[in-house]
Amino acid sequence: MNILIIGAGGREHALAWKLAQSPQLESLFIAPGNAGTAALGTNVPVGVEDFEGIKKLVLDRGIDLVVVGPEAPLVAGIADFFKADPELQGVGVIGPTKAGARLEGSKDVAKIFMEENNIPTGKFRTFIEYTLSEGNEYLAQLNAPYVLKADGLAAGKGVLIINNLEEAQQELENMVKGKFGEASKKVVVEEHLSGIELSVFVLTDGEGYVILPEAKDYKRIGEGDTGLNTGGMGAISPVPFADRAFLQKVEERIVKPTIEGLKDRAIDYKGFIFIGLMNKGGDPYVIEYNVRLGDPESEVVLPRIKTDFVELMKATAEGRLSEMEIELDNRTVATVMLVSGGYPGSYEKGKEITGLDQVEGSVMFHAGTKPDGDKVVTSGGRVIAVSSYGSSIKEALDTCYKSAEKIRFEGKYNRSDIGFDL
Ligand code: AMP
Ligand code: GLY
Repeated sequence: MNILIIGAGGREHALAWKLAQSPQLESLFIAPGNAGTAALGTNVPVGVEDFEGIKKLVLDRGIDLVVVGPEAPLVAGIADFFKADPELQGVGVIGPTKAGARLEGSKDVAKIFMEENNIPTGKFRTFIEYTLSEGNEYLAQLNAPYVLKADGLAAGKGVLIINNLEEAQQELENMVKGKFGEASKKVVVEEHLSGIELSVFVLTDGEGYVILPEAKDYKRIGEGDTGLNTGGMGAISPVPFADRAFLQKVEERIVKPTIEGLKDRAIDYKGFIFIGLMNKGGDPYVIEYNVRLGDPESEVVLPRIKTDFVELMKATAEGRLSEMEIELDNRTVATVMLVSGGYPGSYEKGKEITGLDQVEGSVMFHAGTKPDGDKVVTSGGRVIAVSSYGSSIKEALDTCYKSAEKIRFEGKYNRSDIGFDL
């Protein structure tokens, strides 16, 4: 089997690492990849939204299966592009069609989908500039804090949680007038849910599904979940409060109706569903859907999967997932993200990374690195996710922090309190 992974981050390195463990893998390509994926396959400098470039690569290299990492190419219709092209029809794509990707690409579409399928979520209404005064009235009926969400993709910055009503009304106006460009011309105003968050990952072929390990991520830059939001500073799996009873509720109340809802709408969905959940007094509520794996959640979820991952991907592409059982590693996996100084604000790139060969007992997933001659240099805000197994959260984290100390680059920063609330 020849496989192409689309993307360049820690998630894609983790996918490459997992796929490379399968005896069914013949050759692996990553477009565009990073210094970590280069050690497992062939990086090809093709952009994630360059569909013609990807087509050429697939045909030239005899690719059988494409695994799409990030959301942008899915929202832009990469799966539809493959379906529509006669030369690409035998090639499997892991990732939903454009219609399925709307679950992530439009918060309004996602909320309406949940409402129509009786999936537990906060109550909501959606407003545009024309209905601003109704939006202000709706906000006045809700209790603080107020949750405002840009409808479209806004690079993780499109959600505002505001304590004061007047300020929320002002921000609603700013958003519908284009604070986040086109993405916020429509705004979902949503009931605030309080509880503790976690994410559940599902792999589906549109009929059958398997539930992958759940994870908790740490999004804020500062200790104790303070400061600016980032792409994710660390993650843990399994999540202790997600016991069997809770996960059973997630499956019955959320996973099954989600798959049924996709089927009812004739949406061709072969890929991952990332369900962001709030545990509110033991009951799960959906905060958001993403149509891909999370990052850094992949760096703890994939190491816990024992099942042959090429077989899982093949079964998904071929619609045989209901025949599959998934086998998990019961150990805990933790990951700690090493980031560039200044991130998530401005930061410098091109810093040499040393000590990678001194790490023992952890797996390093490259997030923002690139080869530079014999060296490896930083090329992003999030640089390396250090993942470790342990018999407990503490043991896994101790190993992560020990390994993290050995890796050096100018300006390196990491949180030292991942898992503090578990
Ligand atoms: P999202 O982009 O939808 O994941 O939102 C970003 C973050 O905002 C989530 O991870 C939550 O921490 C928070 N959030 C979103 N919606 C709500 C809500 N209805 N109630 C409480 N927190 C929320
Ligand atoms: N870590 C959150 C995400 O991948 O969206």
